[in-house]
Amino acid sequence: MNARSTSILLGALLLAATSFVSATPIQRNTEKKNREVPIGSAREKLLLDFGWKFHLGDASSPGGDFNFGLGAPFAKAGEAVGALHPNFNDSTWRTLDLPHDWAVEQEFVNVRDDDVKSHGYKPIGRQFPKTTVGWYRRAFFIPESDEGRRLEVKFDGIFRDCIVWLNGHYLGNNLSGYREFGYDITDYVKYGQKNVLVVRVDASQYEGWFYEGAGIYRHTWLLKHGHVHIPDYGIFVHTEVGKNSARVKAETEVVNDGDDRVTCEVLSSVVDERGRTVASALAPGVTLRGSERKTVRLNIAVSKPLLWSLEDPHLYTLISLVKSRGKIIDSVTTLFGIRTVRFDKDKGFFLNGRRVEIKGVCCHQDHAGVGSALPDRLQYYRIERLKEMGCNAYRTSHNPPTNELLEACNRLGMLVMDENRLMGSSPELMGQFEQLILRDRNHPSVVMWSLGNEEWLIQNTDVGRRLAQSLIRKLKELDPTRIYSYAANNGNQYEGINSVLPVRGFNYMTISDIDKYRNDHPGQILFGSEEASTLCTRGIYANDTIRGYLCDYDVNAPGWGATAEKWWRFYVARPWLAGAFVWTGFDYRGEPTPYSWPCINSHFGIMDMCGFPKNNFFYYQAWWSNKDVLHIAPHWNWRGKEGQIIDVWCQSNCESVELLLNGKSLGKKTMEPNSHLEWKVTYEPGVLEARGWKQGRVVTTKVETTGEPVSIRLNADRSAISADGEDVSVVNVTTLDDRGREVPIADNLVRFEVVGNGKIIGVGNGDPSSHEPDKYLSDNYQRRLFNGKCQVIVLSTKEAGAVELRASSEGLKTEVITIRTEPCEPRPSVSVYTPMILKHKAVGKKVGYMNTFHPRYSAGGPSALVNGMMGSTEFGDGLWQGFEHDDLEAVIDLGEITAVEKISSNYLQDSPSWIFLPTSVEYSVSENGENFKVIATVQNDVPVDKEGSFVKAFSGQFLPTLARYIKVHAKNIGNLPAWHRSAGGKAWLFVDEVVVE
Ligand code: GAL
Repeated sequence: MNARSTSILLGALLLAATSFVSATPIQRNTEKKNREVPIGSAREKLLLDFGWKFHLGDASSPGGDFNFGLGAPFAKAGEAVGALHPNFNDSTWRTLDLPHDWAVEQEFVNVRDDDVKSHGYKPIGRQFPKTTVGWYRRAFFIPESDEGRRLEVKFDGIFRDCIVWLNGHYLGNNLSGYREFGYDITDYVKYGQKNVLVVRVDASQYEGWFYEGAGIYRHTWLLKHGHVHIPDYGIFVHTEVGKNSARVKAETEVVNDGDDRVTCEVLSSVVDERGRTVASALAPGVTLRGSERKTVRLNIAVSKPLLWSLEDPHLYTLISLVKSRGKIIDSVTTLFGIRTVRFDKDKGFFLNGRRVEIKGVCCHQDHAGVGSALPDRLQYYRIERLKEMGCNAYRTSHNPPTNELLEACNRLGMLVMDENRLMGSSPELMGQFEQLILRDRNHPSVVMWSLGNEEWLIQNTDVGRRLAQSLIRKLKELDPTRIYSYAANNGNQYEGINSVLPVRGFNYMTISDIDKYRNDHPGQILFGSEEASTLCTRGIYANDTIRGYLCDYDVNAPGWGATAEKWWRFYVARPWLAGAFVWTGFDYRGEPTPYSWPCINSHFGIMDMCGFPKNNFFYYQAWWSNKDVLHIAPHWNWRGKEGQIIDVWCQSNCESVELLLNGKSLGKKTMEPNSHLEWKVTYEPGVLEARGWKQGRVVTTKVETTGEPVSIRLNADRSAISADGEDVSVVNVTTLDDRGREVPIADNLVRFEVVGNGKIIGVGNGDPSSHEPDKYLSDNYQRRLFNGKCQVIVLSTKEAGAVELRASSEGLKTEVITIRTEPCEPRPSVSVYTPMILKHKAVGKKVGYMNTFHPRYSAGGPSALVNGMMGSTEFGDGLWQGFEHDDLEAVIDLGEITAVEKISSNYLQDSPSWIFLPTSVEYSVSENGENFKVIATVQNDVPVDKEGSFVKAFSGQFLPTLARYIKVHAKNIGNLPAWHRSAGGKAWLFVDEVVVE
């Protein structure tokens, strides 16, 4: 069947498929378009990020490490020791959500050690056994209905070396801090019961020479699918673009993990951004024996495709369905783009046939406030900042990035050079490389692979060449569509790794003679894999070796680096160079070059740790973007420097610029392209204004001397975020003077509080020498402004409404902003398995009272345990629920079907007050609110005339049972001692709490 004839059929099939699943498209602010296309599927992908238990371990002693290393947990299957054991009591451990980086939570340590320094002076590593191991535990429920499916846990990335156990069984370990990994847990699962996943993470060995974080810092998932399914990385989609059409080549691998022979068909369809199926193809009659895997290759013609480009990053969704006997047995959606990419040795890089100069940046993955554990939205925030600058390419130095970073690049239009971590061809290292390719080969943003970076011990050698050849062989097998390179800092060296590359990447033109290299090797495509390493501290105008700052003019670079202007002018003058990647887009923790303590982070960024621009941002923006740029540096607050000369720089793409101080012209200068302008200005307070002329238009800007700060300004990047417990608003904080002008030198300490449906997850200010915490685990967040700015990151909860952020500082007017948290369908996630304590009230649950015996108690309300009954404050603290009758019968609605294995309710006996226990408590459950089944009856064994005041729990324990409704029936409240009854008394029943586990 050809693609055209199948499209009608598939259209009908998709329609049929959508009718049995929720067709509500999930809208989250971070992912505006091409959200998961709703299709019927036997597959579930559930986020396993919420509700983990965490505790630091101890690398130096089993005692502090929950007995890790003792016993013989590897001797027998299912034998587990200490915290590895599923029954280990972790109730005192901290509860947190992933992604999580415990390194950023630690205080800085001043240790004279190059590795500790290059990692940002955090106590992670061999020398810090007490803070270098972390334990994570997560209990979750697997329903009986999952029996017969295949279940997998998947970790997108853990730093680093970790072992994983499920229900006391060792699953495996993973060394790399930058690869994803997972386990098929089908055989180990307890159906209809609680399952316990344990991860011990050991971050004592570094991989890089930069801040790397510690912990489960990327997402974690639970996957459920059938035995016949599309395995991880089973989809490869690539395209060929013709004149008015494109051929989408969809490769689908199907594997049969079951025993029975199955015949299925594979359908691949292409859906556009508006959700319309534009083309599809079908492969019928694919038969798989048990354990067999097959790859189906379909070509799908798409006419008039909308190409993925930097300006219009159009994306398509490939829906891959596996059907058997008329039923969909698996489905996977893959975002892809249709575009062409070409490198030319004489003309550089071409996207969709048009030359594009690579205006790139290299980046590490950490951000202010959160370390390496970035909420997805922050990836978008960072890429947005880079795009604003005119940057069009991102090098994932020096490791495979988080998936969401690539997603942000796909959606926002950013080219990517995707980099391998450690070069090697052993199974472990080849495995890491292989996974990089398989995981990332469908992303339209990825235009080039990088085999590695500055492997200086081998790059000039035969070993290096052979390793590169092995990697290239694997690469060609897995992704024949992309070119590859390597970031080489070996000058003009050709022998070794460079000799087998189609594209030669130069790390630093200053240590190479690129013109000569081109002459000697005219057949190679050339580009700058790493340039600049320019050193600046935002808002600082003189180098300061004591505090560890570098001035924010484009003047400082290490021996191997260059100023922004120097390297860019070199590249732009040579169209045969494809462009280059600046070291780095943002500052990162570690590598505080050229300083050391107290300096704890790098100065290489065009932006600081928070994404606040340094002055070079405007140099690049002037020559990289289409915007009108006219920027003056420095600020004009130089009290005490009156009469002294101040260097004034102007970054602009205007043809000429005039500078005026307090209305007096300081001269008009002509801008040489890719350059900047400078004036020496005698300081006097007031207004320094620039007027630029661009194509007949006048552009103006100014800096002015401000007064002291009087108020705070909070500027949220988004004033409405999704109430999904994952979305963030990045709030930038400045102070204003009495005339509402931002004060560029302010350093006030600002305290933050949130009220409502959100919480703060981190603060930063871009100061490379600040030792203030980024994280305040007790939520008492504060941060000092650094040169007028700091940042606070606010995360939504899953409750829609609003979060109010309040910022206060001594002597300044307090500022409050409200960020709306909008209802959305959160990503499907694995429920947190915690006992439900219905204390005094059914928190978030509906409760129905079944016995209307007493008209006096009619209302619900905050302290109602049972609807129709008020816990009156007359009774002590108001937390007790009093009933006067023979029996109490209450139904608790848990809101969803839940596994229940223990219910207890606590009652008060207080003989002086005539409050007595029931004779028995009966528990029954139901999934639908009808046909309750009694599952436990607990008798009272306390003598009815026992004197005193005490609380007794009636606990019913039983085999795990699925229930949504729980009926608590406390019997014979009027079980009075004879003396009481003879006095004509009635009895009261007081319920303290109901706990459901
Ligand atoms: C490069 C290296 C980067 C970073 C940079 C600092 O040689 O590839 O990781 O260390 O130097 O300038």
